[in-house]
Amino acid sequence: MDDAIITVSLGDRSYDIFLGTGVGPLFQEWVTRSFRGTPAFIVTDRTVFSIYEDDLRKWLSGIPHEILPLPPGEEEKHWETVQAIYSFLARKGAGRDSLVVAFGGGVVGDLAGFAAATFLRGIPFVQVPTTLLSQVDSSVGGKTGFNLAEGKNLVGAFHQPRAVFIDPGFLLTLDDRNLRAGMAEIAKCAFAGVPSLLETMEARSGKWREMSGDAWIRVIREAVSFKVSVVERDEKEASARRILNLGHTIGHAMEQASGYGRFLHGEAVAMGLAWEAIFSRRQGVGPPGLERRVIDLLLGFGFSLDDPAVPDPAIAAAIGMDKKKVVSDIDMPLLTGAGSCALQRIPVSLLREDLPAIREELRGIVRDRAGAVGRETAWPSTEEDVPMPLPGPGDAWPSIASLERRVVVNPRDLGAMIALSEAYRRAGNLAGAWETIKEVLEQSPSSASAQRIAREVEREMKEVLPGVGESPSPLLEEVVILEEGAFELRPADRQSDVGWRRADAYGTRGPTGEPASPPGEISPEAAAPVRTVTMATLYWNQGRREEAIRMIDEILQGNPRDPRALAWREAHLGKRPEAEGEKTVFSLNAFLKKIMKEFGYDVSRHH
Ligand SMILES: NC(=O)c1ccc[n+]([C@@H]2O[C@H](COP(=O)([O-])OP(=O)(O)OC[C@H]3O[C@@H](n4cnc5c(N)ncnc54)[C@H](O)[C@@H]3O)[C@@H](O)[C@H]2O)c1
Repeated sequence: MDDAIITVSLGDRSYDIFLGTGVGPLFQEWVTRSFRGTPAFIVTDRTVFSIYEDDLRKWLSGIPHEILPLPPGEEEKHWETVQAIYSFLARKGAGRDSLVVAFGGGVVGDLAGFAAATFLRGIPFVQVPTTLLSQVDSSVGGKTGFNLAEGKNLVGAFHQPRAVFIDPGFLLTLDDRNLRAGMAEIAKCAFAGVPSLLETMEARSGKWREMSGDAWIRVIREAVSFKVSVVERDEKEASARRILNLGHTIGHAMEQASGYGRFLHGEAVAMGLAWEAIFSRRQGVGPPGLERRVIDLLLGFGFSLDDPAVPDPAIAAAIGMDKKKVVSDIDMPLLTGAGSCALQRIPVSLLREDLPAIREELRGIVRDRAGAVGRETAWPSTEEDVPMPLPGPGDAWPSIASLERRVVVNPRDLGAMIALSEAYRRAGNLAGAWETIKEVLEQSPSSASAQRIAREVEREMKEVLPGVGESPSPLLEEVVILEEGAFELRPADRQSDVGWRRADAYGTRGPTGEPASPPGEISPEAAAPVRTVTMATLYWNQGRREEAIRMIDEILQGNPRDPRALAWREAHLGKRPEAEGEKTVFSLNAFLKKIMKEFGYDVSRHH
């Protein structure tokens, strides 16, 4: 596993980003310790809530809380929704020390963050981002806000969260289109400043959906670390932070010109990246050929890079409307290399005039490429569209309940069905796995991951019942796929005794065998103000052992009998410190023994 803490060092606004599978228990521990006794106000959206209600309630057990599920979607990111959050906070008695928890995608994060920034002149908030885009981008850096009819994100505030909890497990229930949209922001980071991430993404090419949980963590970590490094240099976007707008000048214009809702934000950013790569080269800034690399990568992810329904003049007009305009010029990040960009002041008129030529060139490149690969570039077919972010061995998964709910909400959601089938299989519920994967194969017979899971289920069934497959049972014939054999279905009630659980990835990890994080990832000085046993384990696993021990000692200073901290010390250092309480017991015993001996009292008898 590759869990990490990334510290955002912003003086007294510093905070930690916790990244790993199974962050729920860590979130619970963090909130319990940081905001003991004060209620947490959860802002989420109805889709996320419908999928994760049980998990959320579990993580919130023992924490006084109120939950506000908002209607989902970008079209809800307006002033009325912000007002609804204010009234929720006011009605439920939120105070200055209350905690707002943004649990959802970027829309929830921006809205809840803005409400937290302004309610009672600012109250604390944490982000639990559940979409890829919000995990790699919007939850980090403290930008919050909402849209006006006149433009996107025109009202906003900078308000840094107190912590961010990123769990790639949430991506398993995210639909493919939104998952892909998040890839655009990762590609942006790669092109803007992380050449190694660019290489990783290019190596994945069209197979990005097959990434394991660990691979997701690594990719997310690189993207987030890059964003953090930029935010640390320029928190309020005075200058350097604008490089994060790579792809956004034209991307935002596309979104606005097409009417919000036609493209997801990430889809528009993907278009923007391609168009701006061509513009960079046309300006003589980017090396020749780089634009093809950008376009290749984005097409490989399955993005459409143009929409003929949006005319040049509409895009041109929208560029002038972008709030990032500086009078008639804009500070625009231009690509200078594969993994580097630089801000340049560009006259809006120059960019507007260049749009038709950029578009023409883009079409030419896409045509060439389609010819080369022998097919039209468009949205991938249904079979290809089956998302496959299946975690690797040992990774935590979303709960079966959450996947089941997603399938109930959308029975055609093949990605969720594949994940559910795999979840059943891991739980030992081979019957459930079989039924589910059979459904997928009916809808998408050539889905590679469905085929793989079906074969795996088949193999396991044969292991459990060795005679199975040799003489097909008529009763079971209907469940047979792949014409390989018949199966007797094992009862589904074995779920609890098989190694299925949404693991507390941090709490259960041993002290060894953990790859050390790149140096500088955890800054001891900027360590979280809250000390928890789970965090100590995480620090320990990242090689920061002194820091971990110090953290445990501090916990024990606060509560010398803290059983987890005592057990931690014993497990990691092989010794149990003499706790204050134990000292007292010891000295009381000694005292009693002494008076028994000296004065002949019998203190053992109960009266
Ligand atoms: N603040 C910033 O720095 C920043 C940066 C980039 C983007 N943004 C903003 O982020 C927003 C886009 O964010 P987004 O793409 O996350 O959109 P979103 O919040 O609308 O989420 C997309 C959809 O996915 C659903 N969803 C969320 N998590 C899910 C899960 N785990 N499983 C299943 N469904 C899930 C949501 O209900 C929603 O329908 C835009 O408003 C954009 O302006 C902000």
